[in-house]
Amino acid sequence: MMGESKNWILMATARAPTNIAVIKYWGKRDEALILPINDSISVTLDPDHLSATTTVAVSPSFEKDRMWLNGKEVSLSGGRYQNCLRELRNRAGEYTDENKGIHIEKYDWNTLHVHIASYNNFPTAAGLASSAAGFACLVFSLAKLMNVKEDLSQLSTIARQGSGSACRSLYGGFVKWTMGNEMSGSDSIAVQLANETHWDDLVIIVAVVSSRQKETSSTSGMRESVETSSLIQHRAKVVVPSRILQMEQAIRNKDFSSFARLTCADSNQFHAVCLDTSPPILYMNDTSHRIISIVERWNRHEGTPTVAYTFDAGPNAVIVAPNQKVAMDLLQRLLFYFPPARDNELSSYVLGDKKILHEFGLE
Ligand code: ADP
Ligand code: DP6
Ligand code: CO
Repeated sequence: MMGESKNWILMATARAPTNIAVIKYWGKRDEALILPINDSISVTLDPDHLSATTTVAVSPSFEKDRMWLNGKEVSLSGGRYQNCLRELRNRAGEYTDENKGIHIEKYDWNTLHVHIASYNNFPTAAGLASSAAGFACLVFSLAKLMNVKEDLSQLSTIARQGSGSACRSLYGGFVKWTMGNEMSGSDSIAVQLANETHWDDLVIIVAVVSSRQKETSSTSGMRESVETSSLIQHRAKVVVPSRILQMEQAIRNKDFSSFARLTCADSNQFHAVCLDTSPPILYMNDTSHRIISIVERWNRHEGTPTVAYTFDAGPNAVIVAPNQKVAMDLLQRLLFYFPPARDNELSSYVLGDKKILHEFGLE
């Protein structure tokens, strides 16, 4: 059994980056298990810029499970946190530290309580996929603490039950979340398509249009779309399956113009589905639309797409450039249209992935 004293504490810390979908997940076929209506593909960003850092601790002196997010206590009573904790406790392993006189049996994890403290180094719930970094990090750090022996693919099925997009953040590089067929969700897992060294001259610019919390969470937004949009069915059944194949090929061949064309088209169709929802959901604002126009004009001028844009459930732009030179040129253009100090406009840029070119502090 456990050590005699109640004085010990075990801790683990992990950091997980956010990921940005280039073929979007939008819509669930099972709300409780978080099973999607289509496959999705994402790029995992550089953890130095957009990531969650989570420290988890266990001690016999803890009286209940507790969690703090960005320094404020939050409730763990929601089904998603409970599902992740239950799945991890079911897979927890035994742990022994003879020096400290600690021995934890597998079944002890059902009675031991955990404390979780997490910080995001970027805006939470603003459409930059904080739920992805957050739940990937939560599951990974708890799995370490609880000595869970499962591989990343199994952990991805647990992270998925915290937030769908989180399953993709367990891997770096390019990642596909396969929707799966099983009712249990056992095959709805993340698969790494290529690791972070593949196509590492890509440069990602995150342009923070607003760090305010969005009005419609991804969870409720996509529920409303499934209930009211007819376009979403066409998207999930007809459009996405072929885009997934084309995107996998573009990534494999480092074919930037196909990658850019598919990424922009998919972002636009996702926002079209939002507009096709009743009442319509408007995640992008005027600044987002201006960024689209600037990039579209830029690409038309070049003849073939040299820059891609994508917007998640919020107004913030994620721009992908094929290399540092193009990223620099585009950044200069953006700074010309959106000088950093002005109010209510583009206020900060973060460059991610391997190449850090330029950075303003987040608001
Ligand atoms: P986003 O676009 O930022 O992903 P969502 O609406 O999808 O916004 O999710 C935001 C929610 O994700 C938060 O309200 C919180 O419940 C959860 N979340 C965000 N960051 C973390 C974190 N670091 N650890 C655990 N949960 C988190
Ligand atoms: C637009 O994963 O945040 O970012 O599964 O309900 O937690 P829940 O939703 P979430 O949705 C992400 C939607 C998206 C597209 C994507 O990341 O694929
Ligand atoms: Co999210």
